[in-house]
Amino acid sequence: PTGSFKDRGMTLAVSKALQDGARAVICASTGNTAASAAAYAARAGLPAVVLQPEGAVASGKLAQSQALGAKVLAVRGSFDDALRASQELAGRGDYALVNSVNEFRLEGQKTVAFEIIEELGRVPDLVALPYGGGGNSTAVFRGFRDAGEGLPRLMPAQAQHRATTLASAIRISEPVHADEVAEALESCGGGIVTVPDDEVIVAWQELAALEGLFCEPSSAAGVAALKQEQLEPGTVVVCVITGHGLKDPDTAAKHSPAPIPVDPDADSIARAAG
Ligand code: F0G
Repeated sequence: PTGSFKDRGMTLAVSKALQDGARAVICASTGNTAASAAAYAARAGLPAVVLQPEGAVASGKLAQSQALGAKVLAVRGSFDDALRASQELAGRGDYALVNSVNEFRLEGQKTVAFEIIEELGRVPDLVALPYGGGGNSTAVFRGFRDAGEGLPRLMPAQAQHRATTLASAIRISEPVHADEVAEALESCGGGIVTVPDDEVIVAWQELAALEGLFCEPSSAAGVAALKQEQLEPGTVVVCVITGHGLKDPDTAAKHSPAPIPVDPDADSIARAAG
């Protein structure tokens, strides 16, 4: 409903917060978790406080959190600083923390694996996906493990320069699930792939131009990682595309051709259209 993969886990986390009598929910976010928390909290009748690194959140996500009635706090610091602060505040008791350190987020999120198996009729050989904090990689692993039909090789794709990547959704220096991701990779024989920003942008453009899929740049990290792999023909691969392109219209505009001004007559239009 909010245009990113976060909803799958958030609906469960907010339902459980409501059931447990939470007064409000809180999260730190690069934008998508915040928008999702804001939406589900609104529906549950709970206040939401969302902490976002100041000036580092894509405009579509920010607009969502604002419009959905969350209290949006612009933290003078990184996502990692914001997460630490929200964990500390939640520890004092008044807020339910709905970041992916909340187990219910992962339990909801893992259903993506069930859906993949259902859609394909089998476990894929390989699953590639962006790696920020690692909640999604952990949840996807758990889903396949719990489905009990075998494990795909996981390929979490992280930005080469985590702290400064243009893929702002995964601009996270200290992945909170790093140990769980390492364990998951040991079980399934996968490996983390590091992708530079220019390759993420190429993958992002190709998803749009060749598949008609307009996602936010971070979402294409898994595709960029796959391009570094030598795949056997016939390998069944799933790339999880994690967020809609309208989340980050400014980056999209910056990396796309500008509109061509044209007079409203057929000849100049034909010339400009090439
Ligand atoms: N893709 C998108 C579009 C995201 O928003 C995120 C994380 C990821 C991938 C990475 O997932 O952190 O579970 O490894 N966004 C978080 C947020 C950090 O606050 O919205 P991860």
